[in-house]
Amino acid sequence: MKIEDFKKHSHELVDWMCKYLEEIEKYPVKSKVEPGEIYDSLPKKPPSDGESFDKIFKDFNEKIMPGITHWQSPNFYAFFPANNSYPSILAEMLTSTIGAQCMMWETSPSATELEKKVAEWIRDAIGIPSNWSGVINDTASVGTICSLLTARENYSDFKSNKVGLKQNNFRVYCSNETHSSIEKAVKIIGIGSDNLIKIESNKDLSMNVNKLENHLKKDIKNKYIPLAIVSSYGTTGTVAFDSINEISIIANKYKIWHHVDAAYAGTVLFLDEFKKDIKNINLADSFVFNPHKWMLTNFDCSLYYVKDEKKLIKTLEIHPEYLKTSNRNINNYKDWSIQLGRRFRALKLWFVIRTYGINGIKKYLRNHIELAKYLYSKIMKENDFEITTNQNINMINFRLNPIKKSLSNNELNNLNKKFIKKLNDSGKIYLSHTMVRDIYSIRMPIGNSYITKKNVDDSWELIKTVSQDVI
Ligand SMILES: Cc1ncc(COP(=O)(O)O)c(C=O)c1O
Repeated sequence: MKIEDFKKHSHELVDWMCKYLEEIEKYPVKSKVEPGEIYDSLPKKPPSDGESFDKIFKDFNEKIMPGITHWQSPNFYAFFPANNSYPSILAEMLTSTIGAQCMMWETSPSATELEKKVAEWIRDAIGIPSNWSGVINDTASVGTICSLLTARENYSDFKSNKVGLKQNNFRVYCSNETHSSIEKAVKIIGIGSDNLIKIESNKDLSMNVNKLENHLKKDIKNKYIPLAIVSSYGTTGTVAFDSINEISIIANKYKIWHHVDAAYAGTVLFLDEFKKDIKNINLADSFVFNPHKWMLTNFDCSLYYVKDEKKLIKTLEIHPEYLKTSNRNINNYKDWSIQLGRRFRALKLWFVIRTYGINGIKKYLRNHIELAKYLYSKIMKENDFEITTNQNINMINFRLNPIKKSLSNNELNNLNKKFIKKLNDSGKIYLSHTMVRDIYSIRMPIGNSYITKKNVDDSWELIKTVSQDVI
Protein backbone atom coordinates (compact mmCIF):
# COMPACT_ATOMS: atom_id res chain seq x y z
CA MET A 1 0.00 0.00 0.00
CA LYS A 2 1.31 3.43 -0.87
CA ILE A 3 1.15 6.38 1.51
CA GLU A 4 -1.48 8.10 -0.69
CA ASP A 5 -3.70 5.02 -0.41
CA PHE A 6 -3.05 4.83 3.33
CA LYS A 7 -4.16 8.47 3.66
CA LYS A 8 -7.33 7.86 1.66
CA HIS A 9 -8.30 4.65 3.44
CA SER A 10 -7.50 5.92 6.91
CA HIS A 11 -10.00 8.74 6.36
CA GLU A 12 -12.55 6.21 5.17
CA LEU A 13 -11.94 4.16 8.30
CA VAL A 14 -12.38 7.15 10.60
CA ASP A 15 -15.75 7.78 8.93
CA TRP A 16 -16.59 4.12 9.42
CA MET A 17 -15.54 4.27 13.10
CA CYS A 18 -17.75 7.31 13.79
CA LYS A 19 -20.75 5.75 12.02
CA TYR A 20 -20.18 2.48 13.90
CA LEU A 21 -20.20 4.15 17.30
CA GLU A 22 -23.14 6.41 16.38
CA GLU A 23 -25.21 3.48 15.12
CA ILE A 24 -23.96 0.78 17.45
CA GLU A 25 -27.40 0.04 18.84
CA LYS A 26 -28.49 -1.18 15.40
CA TYR A 27 -26.23 -4.24 15.67
CA PRO A 28 -27.24 -7.40 17.58
CA VAL A 29 -25.33 -6.95 20.85
CA LYS A 30 -24.30 -10.60 21.02
CA SER A 31 -23.18 -11.99 17.69
CA LYS A 32 -25.76 -14.33 16.18
CA VAL A 33 -23.38 -16.54 14.19
CA GLU A 34 -23.10 -20.28 14.76
CA PRO A 35 -19.76 -21.86 15.77
CA GLY A 36 -17.58 -22.40 12.68
CA GLU A 37 -19.66 -20.08 10.47
CA ILE A 38 -17.00 -17.36 10.15
CA TYR A 39 -14.18 -19.89 9.75
CA ASP A 40 -16.03 -21.72 6.98
CA SER A 41 -16.73 -18.46 5.15
CA LEU A 42 -13.00 -17.75 4.80
CA PRO A 43 -10.84 -19.26 2.03
CA LYS A 44 -8.79 -22.36 2.77
CA LYS A 45 -5.59 -20.73 1.47
CA PRO A 46 -4.19 -17.21 1.76
CA PRO A 47 -4.12 -15.13 -1.46
CA SER A 48 -1.01 -15.67 -3.58
CA ASP A 49 -1.12 -12.10 -4.82
CA GLY A 50 -2.01 -9.01 -2.84
CA GLU A 51 -5.63 -7.87 -2.84
CA SER A 52 -7.09 -4.38 -2.92
CA PHE A 53 -8.04 -2.58 0.27
CA ASP A 54 -11.59 -2.17 -1.03
CA LYS A 55 -11.95 -5.92 -1.35
CA ILE A 56 -10.48 -6.56 2.11
CA PHE A 57 -12.70 -3.92 3.68
CA LYS A 58 -15.79 -5.30 1.94
CA ASP A 59 -15.02 -8.73 3.43
CA PHE A 60 -14.43 -7.13 6.82
CA ASN A 61 -17.93 -5.67 6.69
CA GLU A 62 -19.60 -8.73 5.23
CA LYS A 63 -17.68 -11.62 6.79
CA ILE A 64 -16.10 -10.35 10.01
CA MET A 65 -18.62 -7.88 11.38
CA PRO A 66 -21.44 -10.47 11.71
CA GLY A 67 -19.22 -12.41 14.12
CA ILE A 68 -18.50 -9.42 16.35
CA THR A 69 -20.11 -9.04 19.77
CA HIS A 70 -20.54 -5.34 20.39
CA TRP A 71 -18.82 -4.60 23.69
CA GLN A 72 -19.22 -0.84 23.26
CA SER A 73 -23.00 -1.10 22.84
CA PRO A 74 -24.81 0.59 25.73
CA ASN A 75 -26.96 -2.55 25.83
CA PHE A 76 -23.95 -4.73 26.62
CA TYR A 77 -24.16 -5.76 30.29
CA ALA A 78 -22.36 -9.10 30.17
CA PHE A 79 -19.27 -10.01 32.22
CA PHE A 80 -17.63 -6.66 32.98
CA PRO A 81 -17.39 -3.81 30.52
CA ALA A 82 -14.21 -3.38 28.49
CA ASN A 83 -15.05 0.19 27.76
CA ASN A 84 -13.35 2.65 25.47
CA SER A 85 -13.69 6.38 24.78
CA TYR A 86 -12.92 8.73 21.92
CA PRO A 87 -9.60 9.98 23.36
CA SER A 88 -8.49 6.43 24.07
CA ILE A 89 -9.28 5.33 20.52
CA LEU A 90 -7.37 8.33 19.14
CA ALA A 91 -4.34 7.43 21.24
CA GLU A 92 -4.52 3.83 19.99
CA MET A 93 -4.39 5.17 16.44
CA LEU A 94 -1.17 6.98 17.26
CA THR A 95 0.23 3.98 19.14
CA SER A 96 -0.26 1.68 16.17
CA THR A 97 1.10 4.29 13.76
CA ILE A 98 4.25 4.85 15.79
CA GLY A 99 4.51 1.09 16.32
CA ALA A 100 7.09 1.40 19.08
CA GLN A 101 8.12 -1.66 21.05
CA CYS A 102 8.63 -0.32 24.56
CA MET A 103 10.60 -3.02 26.34
CA MET A 104 13.34 -0.72 27.64
CA TRP A 105 13.86 2.98 28.30
CA GLU A 106 16.12 3.24 25.28
CA THR A 107 13.60 1.67 22.92
CA SER A 108 11.32 4.69 23.49
CA PRO A 109 12.19 6.96 26.41
CA SER A 110 8.81 8.72 26.17
CA ALA A 111 6.92 5.47 26.59
CA THR A 112 8.85 4.55 29.74
CA GLU A 113 8.71 7.98 31.28
CA LEU A 114 5.05 8.55 30.43
CA GLU A 115 4.22 5.12 31.90
CA LYS A 116 5.99 6.10 35.13
CA LYS A 117 4.16 9.44 35.19
CA VAL A 118 0.61 8.18 34.53
CA ALA A 119 1.12 5.30 36.97
CA GLU A 120 2.04 7.90 39.61
CA TRP A 121 -0.88 10.19 38.73
CA ILE A 122 -3.34 7.31 39.09
CA ARG A 123 -1.59 5.93 42.18
CA ASP A 124 -2.03 9.29 43.92
CA ALA A 125 -5.59 9.74 42.67
CA ILE A 126 -6.81 6.37 43.99
CA GLY A 127 -5.05 6.48 47.34
CA ILE A 128 -2.15 4.06 46.87
CA PRO A 129 0.81 5.27 48.98
CA SER A 130 3.33 7.50 47.23
CA ASN A 131 6.25 5.15 47.91
CA TRP A 132 4.59 2.44 45.75
CA SER A 133 5.47 2.01 42.06
CA GLY A 134 3.30 1.02 39.13
CA VAL A 135 3.71 -0.72 35.80
CA ILE A 136 1.24 -1.27 32.99
CA ASN A 137 0.55 -4.88 31.94
CA ASP A 138 -1.93 -6.26 29.46
CA THR A 139 -4.16 -7.89 32.08
CA ALA A 140 -4.76 -8.37 35.79
CA SER A 141 -3.97 -12.07 35.34
CA VAL A 142 -0.37 -11.10 34.55
CA GLY A 143 -0.17 -8.70 37.53
CA THR A 144 -1.34 -11.51 39.80
CA ILE A 145 1.20 -13.98 38.38
CA CYS A 146 3.97 -11.40 38.94
CA SER A 147 2.74 -10.81 42.48
CA LEU A 148 2.68 -14.48 43.47
CA LEU A 149 6.04 -15.10 41.79
CA THR A 150 7.51 -12.26 43.81
CA ALA A 151 6.00 -13.74 46.97
CA ARG A 152 7.63 -17.07 46.15
CA GLU A 153 11.02 -15.52 45.44
CA ASN A 154 10.84 -13.24 48.44
CA TYR A 155 10.20 -16.29 50.62
CA SER A 156 13.19 -18.22 49.21
CA ASP A 157 15.44 -15.15 49.29
CA PHE A 158 15.31 -15.21 45.48
CA LYS A 159 16.86 -18.71 45.33
CA SER A 160 14.02 -20.73 43.82
CA ASN A 161 14.36 -18.69 40.62
CA LYS A 162 17.81 -20.29 40.30
CA VAL A 163 17.52 -23.77 41.73
CA GLY A 164 13.81 -24.39 41.22
CA LEU A 165 11.18 -25.14 43.83
CA LYS A 166 12.72 -27.43 46.46
CA GLN A 167 9.69 -27.66 48.68
CA ASN A 168 6.03 -27.60 48.08
CA ASN A 169 4.20 -27.10 51.28
CA PHE A 170 3.22 -23.57 50.34
CA ARG A 171 -0.33 -22.38 50.64
CA VAL A 172 -2.11 -19.46 49.03
CA TYR A 173 -5.43 -18.17 50.40
CA CYS A 174 -8.36 -16.42 48.75
CA SER A 175 -12.14 -16.56 49.11
CA ASN A 176 -14.41 -18.98 47.28
CA GLU A 177 -15.67 -15.99 45.26
CA THR A 178 -12.22 -15.02 43.96
CA HIS A 179 -11.57 -14.77 40.22
CA SER A 180 -10.20 -17.85 38.43
CA SER A 181 -7.02 -15.95 37.46
CA ILE A 182 -5.75 -16.56 41.01
CA GLU A 183 -6.04 -20.32 40.59
CA LYS A 184 -4.34 -20.08 37.20
CA ALA A 185 -1.49 -18.06 38.73
CA VAL A 186 -1.05 -20.61 41.53
CA LYS A 187 -0.79 -23.38 38.92
CA ILE A 188 1.66 -21.43 36.74
CA ILE A 189 4.05 -20.59 39.57
CA GLY A 190 4.29 -24.23 40.63
CA ILE A 191 2.37 -24.11 43.89
CA GLY A 192 -0.42 -26.36 42.61
CA SER A 193 -4.12 -25.65 42.77
CA ASP A 194 -4.56 -28.16 45.66
CA ASN A 195 -2.61 -25.63 47.72
CA LEU A 196 -4.97 -22.79 46.94
CA ILE A 197 -7.25 -22.57 49.95
CA LYS A 198 -10.62 -21.03 49.13
CA ILE A 199 -11.94 -19.54 52.34
CA GLU A 200 -15.69 -19.57 52.75
CA SER A 201 -17.37 -16.24 52.22
CA ASN A 202 -19.82 -14.34 54.41
CA LYS A 203 -23.48 -13.81 53.57
CA ASP A 204 -22.49 -10.72 51.52
CA LEU A 205 -19.97 -12.90 49.61
CA SER A 206 -16.90 -11.19 51.07
CA MET A 207 -14.14 -13.34 52.56
CA ASN A 208 -14.82 -14.55 56.11
CA VAL A 209 -11.77 -13.13 57.87
CA ASN A 210 -12.18 -15.26 61.02
CA LYS A 211 -12.21 -18.40 58.92
CA LEU A 212 -9.09 -17.14 57.13
CA GLU A 213 -7.22 -16.67 60.39
CA ASN A 214 -8.35 -20.03 61.77
CA HIS A 215 -7.18 -21.74 58.61
CA LEU A 216 -3.81 -20.00 58.79
CA LYS A 217 -3.31 -21.12 62.40
CA LYS A 218 -4.25 -24.69 61.53
CA ASP A 219 -1.92 -24.75 58.50
CA ILE A 220 1.01 -23.30 60.44
CA LYS A 221 0.48 -25.97 63.09
CA ASN A 222 0.51 -28.63 60.36
CA LYS A 223 3.80 -27.29 58.95
CA TYR A 224 2.40 -25.70 55.80
CA ILE A 225 3.91 -22.40 54.73
CA PRO A 226 1.30 -19.70 54.15
CA LEU A 227 2.87 -17.90 51.22
CA ALA A 228 0.28 -15.35 50.15
CA ILE A 229 -3.25 -14.09 50.62
CA VAL A 230 -5.13 -12.70 47.63
CA SER A 231 -8.05 -10.50 48.58
CA SER A 232 -10.69 -9.20 46.19
CA TYR A 233 -11.70 -5.59 46.08
CA GLY A 234 -14.80 -6.37 44.03
CA THR A 235 -15.41 -9.99 43.07
CA THR A 236 -16.43 -10.89 39.54
CA GLY A 237 -19.80 -12.47 40.28
CA THR A 238 -21.33 -9.75 42.42
CA VAL A 239 -18.58 -7.14 43.10
CA ALA A 240 -18.42 -8.21 46.77
CA PHE A 241 -15.67 -6.46 48.71
CA ASP A 242 -13.31 -8.40 50.95
CA SER A 243 -12.12 -6.37 53.92
CA ILE A 244 -8.77 -5.23 52.57
CA ASN A 245 -7.98 -3.49 55.87
CA GLU A 246 -8.60 -6.50 58.14
CA ILE A 247 -6.88 -8.90 55.76
CA SER A 248 -3.87 -6.56 55.55
CA ILE A 249 -3.56 -6.67 59.34
CA ILE A 250 -3.75 -10.47 59.41
CA ALA A 251 -1.22 -10.82 56.58
CA ASN A 252 1.11 -8.48 58.40
CA LYS A 253 0.67 -10.32 61.70
CA TYR A 254 1.65 -13.67 60.14
CA LYS A 255 4.21 -12.10 57.76
CA ILE A 256 2.38 -13.32 54.65
CA TRP A 257 2.46 -11.64 51.25
CA HIS A 258 -0.82 -9.84 50.50
CA HIS A 259 -1.99 -9.11 46.95
CA VAL A 260 -5.18 -7.13 46.32
CA ASP A 261 -7.13 -7.99 43.17
CA ALA A 262 -9.19 -4.89 42.35
CA ALA A 263 -9.34 -5.66 38.61
CA TYR A 264 -12.80 -4.23 38.08
CA ALA A 265 -13.72 -2.15 41.12
CA GLY A 266 -10.33 -0.49 41.70
CA THR A 267 -11.46 2.42 39.54
CA VAL A 268 -14.04 3.39 42.17
CA LEU A 269 -11.17 4.46 44.44
CA PHE A 270 -11.01 7.70 42.46
CA LEU A 271 -14.03 8.61 44.64
CA ASP A 272 -12.82 9.82 48.02
CA GLU A 273 -15.58 8.11 50.01
CA PHE A 274 -14.17 4.70 49.00
CA LYS A 275 -10.57 5.39 50.00
CA LYS A 276 -11.18 4.30 53.60
CA ASP A 277 -11.62 0.76 52.22
CA ILE A 278 -7.87 0.60 51.60
CA LYS A 279 -6.59 2.68 54.49
CA ASN A 280 -4.28 -0.18 55.54
CA ILE A 281 -3.00 -0.82 52.03
CA ASN A 282 0.54 -0.03 53.11
CA LEU A 283 0.47 -3.29 55.08
CA ALA A 284 -0.17 -5.12 51.79
CA ASP A 285 2.38 -5.83 49.07
CA SER A 286 0.69 -5.39 45.71
CA PHE A 287 -2.50 -4.16 44.08
CA VAL A 288 -3.87 -4.62 40.56
CA PHE A 289 -6.69 -2.87 38.69
CA ASN A 290 -7.76 -2.60 35.08
CA PRO A 291 -8.38 0.81 33.54
CA HIS A 292 -9.54 -1.24 30.54
CA LYS A 293 -12.62 -2.31 32.45
CA TRP A 294 -14.27 0.80 33.88
CA MET A 295 -11.96 3.70 33.15
CA LEU A 296 -12.66 4.68 29.56
CA THR A 297 -9.46 3.06 28.28
CA ASN A 298 -9.36 0.53 25.45
CA PHE A 299 -8.48 -3.06 26.23
CA ASP A 300 -5.69 -3.83 27.11
CA CYS A 301 -4.45 -1.79 30.05
CA SER A 302 -3.91 -3.11 33.57
CA LEU A 303 -2.07 -1.23 36.31
CA TYR A 304 -0.01 -3.29 38.72
CA TYR A 305 1.30 -1.52 41.84
CA VAL A 306 3.95 -2.81 44.23
CA LYS A 307 5.21 -1.59 47.57
CA ASP A 308 8.77 -2.70 46.85
CA GLU A 309 9.78 -2.43 43.20
CA LYS A 310 13.20 -3.94 43.98
CA LYS A 311 11.62 -7.27 44.88
CA LEU A 312 9.60 -7.31 41.66
CA ILE A 313 12.66 -6.51 39.54
CA LYS A 314 14.84 -9.03 41.36
CA THR A 315 12.23 -11.67 40.57
CA LEU A 316 11.87 -10.91 36.87
CA GLU A 317 14.99 -9.18 35.54
CA ILE A 318 17.20 -10.85 32.98
CA HIS A 319 20.10 -9.29 31.09
CA PRO A 320 21.22 -11.05 27.90
CA GLU A 321 24.03 -9.35 26.03
CA TYR A 322 21.81 -8.18 23.18
CA LEU A 323 19.59 -6.22 25.59
CA LYS A 324 22.32 -4.53 27.60
CA THR A 325 22.23 -0.73 27.51
CA SER A 326 24.48 1.79 29.17
CA ASN A 327 21.74 3.87 30.77
CA ARG A 328 21.54 4.03 34.53
CA ASN A 329 18.77 5.00 36.94
CA ILE A 330 15.97 4.42 34.50
CA ASN A 331 13.11 1.93 34.46
CA ASN A 332 13.42 -0.88 31.96
CA TYR A 333 9.91 -2.23 32.21
CA LYS A 334 10.88 -5.52 30.56
CA ASP A 335 12.22 -6.36 34.06
CA TRP A 336 8.90 -5.54 35.75
CA SER A 337 6.76 -8.21 34.12
CA ILE A 338 6.71 -11.49 32.22
CA GLN A 339 7.01 -10.69 28.53
CA LEU A 340 9.90 -8.85 26.93
CA GLY A 341 8.01 -6.92 24.26
CA ARG A 342 5.59 -4.24 25.42
CA ARG A 343 3.00 -2.03 23.76
CA PHE A 344 2.93 1.73 24.39
CA ARG A 345 -0.16 1.56 26.62
CA ALA A 346 0.55 4.67 28.66
CA LEU A 347 -0.42 6.96 25.79
CA LYS A 348 -4.11 6.08 25.88
CA LEU A 349 -4.23 6.51 29.66
CA TRP A 350 -2.58 9.92 29.29
CA PHE A 351 -5.12 10.95 26.65
CA VAL A 352 -8.01 9.74 28.84
CA ILE A 353 -6.82 11.42 32.04
CA ARG A 354 -6.07 14.70 30.27
CA THR A 355 -9.36 14.75 28.36
CA TYR A 356 -11.63 13.99 31.33
CA GLY A 357 -9.49 15.22 34.20
CA ILE A 358 -9.78 13.54 37.59
CA ASN A 359 -13.09 15.36 38.15
CA GLY A 360 -14.47 14.11 34.84
CA ILE A 361 -13.58 10.53 35.75
CA LYS A 362 -15.27 10.94 39.13
CA LYS A 363 -18.41 12.34 37.46
CA TYR A 364 -18.47 9.42 35.04
CA LEU A 365 -18.22 6.88 37.90
CA ARG A 366 -20.89 8.62 39.98
CA ASN A 367 -23.26 8.64 37.02
CA HIS A 368 -22.95 4.87 36.68
CA ILE A 369 -23.44 4.31 40.41
CA GLU A 370 -26.55 6.53 40.33
CA LEU A 371 -27.93 4.68 37.30
CA ALA A 372 -27.38 1.38 39.11
CA LYS A 373 -29.22 2.74 42.15
CA TYR A 374 -32.06 3.82 39.88
CA LEU A 375 -32.26 0.36 38.30
CA TYR A 376 -32.15 -1.28 41.74
CA SER A 377 -35.11 0.81 42.91
CA LYS A 378 -37.05 -0.11 39.76
CA ILE A 379 -36.45 -3.85 40.33
CA MET A 380 -37.45 -3.55 43.99
CA LYS A 381 -40.91 -2.33 42.89
CA GLU A 382 -41.56 -5.36 40.68
CA ASN A 383 -43.60 -8.34 41.85
CA ASP A 384 -42.08 -10.86 39.47
CA PHE A 385 -38.42 -9.98 40.03
CA GLU A 386 -36.12 -10.06 43.01
CA ILE A 387 -32.71 -8.73 43.88
CA THR A 388 -30.33 -11.60 44.70
CA THR A 389 -27.61 -9.70 46.53
CA ASN A 390 -26.70 -6.13 47.57
CA GLN A 391 -26.17 -3.40 45.03
CA ASN A 392 -22.37 -3.22 45.07
CA ILE A 393 -21.30 0.08 43.48
CA ASN A 394 -22.66 -0.22 39.94
CA MET A 395 -23.49 -3.94 39.89
CA ILE A 396 -27.04 -5.29 40.16
CA ASN A 397 -27.80 -8.99 40.57
CA PHE A 398 -31.41 -10.11 40.16
CA ARG A 399 -33.62 -12.95 39.01
CA LEU A 400 -37.06 -13.54 37.64
CA ASN A 401 -39.35 -15.03 40.31
CA PRO A 402 -42.97 -14.98 39.16
CA ILE A 403 -45.05 -14.25 42.23
CA LYS A 404 -48.03 -16.38 41.24
CA LYS A 405 -46.02 -19.52 40.51
CA SER A 406 -44.31 -20.41 43.82
CA LEU A 407 -41.46 -22.21 42.06
CA SER A 408 -38.70 -24.15 43.84
CA ASN A 409 -35.14 -22.79 43.66
CA ASN A 410 -34.27 -25.45 41.10
CA GLU A 411 -37.21 -24.53 38.92
CA LEU A 412 -36.31 -20.85 39.26
CA ASN A 413 -32.73 -21.56 38.20
CA ASN A 414 -33.95 -23.36 35.06
CA LEU A 415 -36.43 -20.58 34.35
CA ASN A 416 -33.74 -17.89 34.63
CA LYS A 417 -31.39 -19.85 32.36
CA LYS A 418 -34.13 -19.98 29.74
CA PHE A 419 -34.90 -16.30 30.34
CA ILE A 420 -31.35 -15.03 29.88
CA LYS A 421 -30.98 -17.09 26.68
CA LYS A 422 -34.14 -15.58 25.27
CA LEU A 423 -32.99 -12.07 26.17
CA ASN A 424 -29.56 -12.58 24.59
CA ASP A 425 -31.02 -14.24 21.49
CA SER A 426 -33.13 -11.12 20.93
CA GLY A 427 -29.92 -9.30 19.93
CA LYS A 428 -31.17 -6.27 21.84
CA ILE A 429 -29.25 -6.88 25.04
CA TYR A 430 -26.42 -9.08 26.32
CA LEU A 431 -26.40 -10.23 29.95
CA SER A 432 -24.40 -12.89 31.78
CA HIS A 433 -24.99 -14.73 35.03
CA THR A 434 -23.37 -15.95 38.20
CA MET A 435 -24.39 -18.20 41.08
CA VAL A 436 -25.21 -16.37 44.29
CA ARG A 437 -24.75 -19.44 46.45
CA ASP A 438 -27.38 -21.79 44.92
CA ILE A 439 -29.28 -19.03 43.12
CA TYR A 440 -28.81 -18.60 39.37
CA SER A 441 -28.54 -14.86 39.23
CA ILE A 442 -28.53 -12.39 36.34
CA ARG A 443 -25.74 -9.80 36.51
CA MET A 444 -26.20 -6.27 35.28
CA PRO A 445 -23.15 -4.02 35.72
CA ILE A 446 -23.83 -0.41 34.65
CA GLY A 447 -20.40 0.59 33.42
CA ASN A 448 -20.55 1.17 29.69
CA SER A 449 -19.00 4.43 28.48
CA TYR A 450 -21.97 5.35 26.32
CA ILE A 451 -24.87 4.24 28.58
CA THR A 452 -27.67 6.71 29.39
CA LYS A 453 -30.73 6.66 31.64
CA LYS A 454 -32.81 5.96 28.53
CA ASN A 455 -30.75 2.80 27.85
CA VAL A 456 -31.37 1.62 31.40
CA ASP A 457 -35.13 2.33 31.06
CA ASP A 458 -35.34 0.62 27.65
CA SER A 459 -33.31 -2.37 28.83
CA TRP A 460 -35.53 -2.83 31.86
CA GLU A 461 -38.71 -2.58 29.73
CA LEU A 462 -37.22 -5.21 27.38
CA ILE A 463 -36.40 -7.49 30.32
CA LYS A 464 -39.97 -7.19 31.61
CA THR A 465 -41.52 -7.79 28.18
CA VAL A 466 -39.40 -10.86 27.44
CA SER A 467 -40.13 -12.24 30.93
CA GLN A 468 -43.79 -12.60 29.88
CA ASP A 469 -42.73 -15.07 27.16
CA VAL A 470 -41.03 -17.43 29.62
CA ILE A 471 -43.33 -17.22 32.64
C1 LIG B 1 -11.95 -9.62 39.96
C2 LIG B 1 -11.21 -9.98 38.71
N1 LIG B 1 -9.92 -10.31 38.78
C3 LIG B 1 -9.21 -10.64 37.69
C4 LIG B 1 -9.79 -10.64 36.45
C5 LIG B 1 -8.96 -11.02 35.27
O1 LIG B 1 -8.76 -9.90 34.48
P1 LIG B 1 -7.84 -9.92 33.19
O2 LIG B 1 -8.73 -10.32 32.06
O3 LIG B 1 -7.37 -8.50 33.06
O4 LIG B 1 -6.74 -10.87 33.42
C6 LIG B 1 -11.14 -10.32 36.32
C7 LIG B 1 -11.79 -10.32 35.00
O5 LIG B 1 -12.93 -9.99 34.83
C8 LIG B 1 -11.87 -9.97 37.47
O6 LIG B 1 -13.16 -9.67 37.42
